[in-house]
Amino acid sequence: MNALALTDHIARHFGRARESYEQAARLQRLVAAQALSLLKPTDGLLLDLGSGPGWFHSKLKQHCTDLVALDLSFDMLQKAREAQDATLVVQADAQSLPLASASIDRVFSSLMLQWCEQPQLVLHEIARVIKPGGSAVISTLLDGTLQEFKQAWSEVDSHQHINQFLPLDFYHQLERQCPDLGLKLQTETVQLEYPDVLALARELKDLGANTVTQDRNKALTGKQRWQKVQQAYPSRCIDGSISASYQVLYLVLTKKNKE
Ligand SMILES: C[S@@+](CC[C@H](N)C(=O)[O-])C[C@H]1O[C@@H](n2cnc3c(N)ncnc32)[C@H](O)[C@@H]1O
Repeated sequence: MNALALTDHIARHFGRARESYEQAARLQRLVAAQALSLLKPTDGLLLDLGSGPGWFHSKLKQHCTDLVALDLSFDMLQKAREAQDATLVVQADAQSLPLASASIDRVFSSLMLQWCEQPQLVLHEIARVIKPGGSAVISTLLDGTLQEFKQAWSEVDSHQHINQFLPLDFYHQLERQCPDLGLKLQTETVQLEYPDVLALARELKDLGANTVTQDRNKALTGKQRWQKVQQAYPSRCIDGSISASYQVLYLVLTKKNKE
């Protein structure tokens, strides 16, 4: 799939999840709350990058004067518009922001970066649009996320069933390469319980998070295969319930004032 087709695919995928998203967004709630605790309030403009349906906007609004919601998905933005917290909604790709340089005071971006083919482009765009002295809080998923699910599937077939996430080292390198960005990294492992693997898969689908960007099996997964995945799942209780781990990175980026 080329980059444009992939972007379009991701937008449609999330668009289809717009109604079920909020209910399924357990991880998103935990992560957004932690990210918000790292965000400095501003009297100016706050950009929510990869805003999704805007379920968090009433909280973000308390941290700024004006809120701009930006997402790839038109359907997600329709939901965000209904919430009426954002002053402006913009449909765009975070890898190429249609915003003037040094025009934004704060950027908040929760669990969007891992969907972008070129996360370094997004970080450069964020650094470009932020005013000197401004800052951004970004959360994303790291390699090791859903490793139990991945391991269980590897015993059933050789296809890829979840996205690949970047390792922490990628961000450490970025920190070294761009000292002027003032990057601070913080990691957290979040464990969530599910009644069974189907419930986990359903939640990922409801979140629009089951897109895999590489080799995926397009055929529907039958009951027997799900049973095999359930049996192979490494973190399983006697009652069949399972635990899934998410490796979360919080990135705080501060654009230094020019001397
Ligand atoms: C997992 S959701 C997170 C939504 C929200 N920030 C939250 O915490 O609930 C990811 C969102 O990022 C959007 N997205 C994915 N790739 C994007 C891109 N390249 N540019 C802008 N938005 C993107 C999707 O449409 C989706 O709404």
